[in-house]
Amino acid sequence: MSDTGSGKRQIHVCSLEMPTISHNNYGLWAHPDNRKHLYHTIEFWRDCAREAEAALLDAIFIADVLGVADAFGGSMDTSIREGIHIPELDPMLLAAVGMGATERLGWGVTVSASYEPPFGLARRMSTMDHLSDGRIGWNIVMSYHHNADENHGIAPGSLPSFERYERGDDFMEVCYKLWESSWDEDAVLADRENGVYTDPRKVRRIDHAGEYYSCSGPHMVDPSPQRTPVLFQAGMSDRGRRFAAKHAEAVFFVARTLDGLKLSVEDLRRNASAFGRSREEVLAMVQLNVITAPTMAEAEDKVAEFQKWTRPEGYLAHEYGMSNFDPMKHPRERLLDEALALDGLTRQDSGTYGHGPEATIGEIIDAAADIRNEPMFVYGDPVTVADQIESWFEEFDLDGYLLRNYVHPGTVRDFGRYVVPELQRRGRYRTDYEGSTLREHFFGPGRKRLADSHPGARHRA
Ligand SMILES: Cc1cc2nc3c(=O)[nH]c(=O)nc-3n(C[C@H](O)[C@H](O)[C@H](O)COP(=O)(O)O)c2cc1C
Repeated sequence: MSDTGSGKRQIHVCSLEMPTISHNNYGLWAHPDNRKHLYHTIEFWRDCAREAEAALLDAIFIADVLGVADAFGGSMDTSIREGIHIPELDPMLLAAVGMGATERLGWGVTVSASYEPPFGLARRMSTMDHLSDGRIGWNIVMSYHHNADENHGIAPGSLPSFERYERGDDFMEVCYKLWESSWDEDAVLADRENGVYTDPRKVRRIDHAGEYYSCSGPHMVDPSPQRTPVLFQAGMSDRGRRFAAKHAEAVFFVARTLDGLKLSVEDLRRNASAFGRSREEVLAMVQLNVITAPTMAEAEDKVAEFQKWTRPEGYLAHEYGMSNFDPMKHPRERLLDEALALDGLTRQDSGTYGHGPEATIGEIIDAAADIRNEPMFVYGDPVTVADQIESWFEEFDLDGYLLRNYVHPGTVRDFGRYVVPELQRRGRYRTDYEGSTLREHFFGPGRKRLADSHPGARHRA
């Protein structure tokens, strides 16, 4: 884990993006200054990339889903109307565009391991690592939308979460063998005199025959700067958390409650240690919600402005998108328990267990749409925001944050202009990139490759 030379632990920050119109900011796409509707243009992604690099962020992290949430209100209508993760472009291609506009910024790209064999994914990641000179990362997800399953010929409910991760372990074995062991470092000779491009003795098949995947190899791509991309994960089930503790180099959390976050980070540290991995080898990062401006009054105005454009439908569909519970169809004064009974739902399967028995439907709607209501939300002048960021960082034993975007341009630019200099002044944030690869941004100069204790490193030739 790198520090800034100040002796203090460095705070890592990635921008949380999704190549869609609305992601954790429902309704704000219509804000007159928001350019997110240009998300399907090359220039938009280049601008995001330049802004993130100017703020010296570690990376842009791009979330992705492969299906539409269709339970809320019993249809896809709300998702489609509000632009909730649809339309949605392919994040890998956007990262390729954005990396061309930057030199140091890393890229974390979400790709599901549930819908394709590992060979092609391993090749795409190696290609991206070459093109970016070692700045690519992979957010390994197993996917959970039943519409995504349907899109890939998987009958809904037939592939439980636990089994996805079992398959995922085998998937990773194939990738590690392709990335780490199929090619020797010095295999490419490019010997013009003797007409030898690659030494055939230094490239080998992997002949993987696992429970779920088989792959003979060799890998189609020669060793890239990082070989294995930086591995991100955010599994939430017990099995998912074990998968993260074994494979991930950076684990992302969304804090539903602060107590829950504390337990999740402690759990990660324990599980990682059981896999023989040290505290320094696995970064814990949490979604951070920041609205900042030079003064408190200006920040307050900005919060009020964003709140004005926020639409509850999107937040409710996001929150209850898997449960078929639609509070909007009940009168505001109705008690939650009464509404659930009428819909034939329980607190558990409706996802409303966070609310007390006295809660009304109106309160639930208002709470879902109140942008100040998020854990890990902070607004204010740079000192106020930096104080809070530092305090959470220590209190929850974090390594960094995933910065949620409200508007483009704006969120990352404000963070870079106002908060970054304050964090730098406190010795908590880099004043320049020290290494060239994403892994070096996370773990310090010289650490281009997986740590020796990582399970992927076992496969090194
Ligand atoms: C911060 C964060 C970001 C996530 N991003 C994605 C994503 O982009 N795509 C996705 O399919 N799942 C995403 N997830 C979901 C998980 O990675 C995981 O696939 C899901 O929780 C199902 O795994 P589980 O069975 O372990 O809960 C994210 C989760 C968190 C906490």
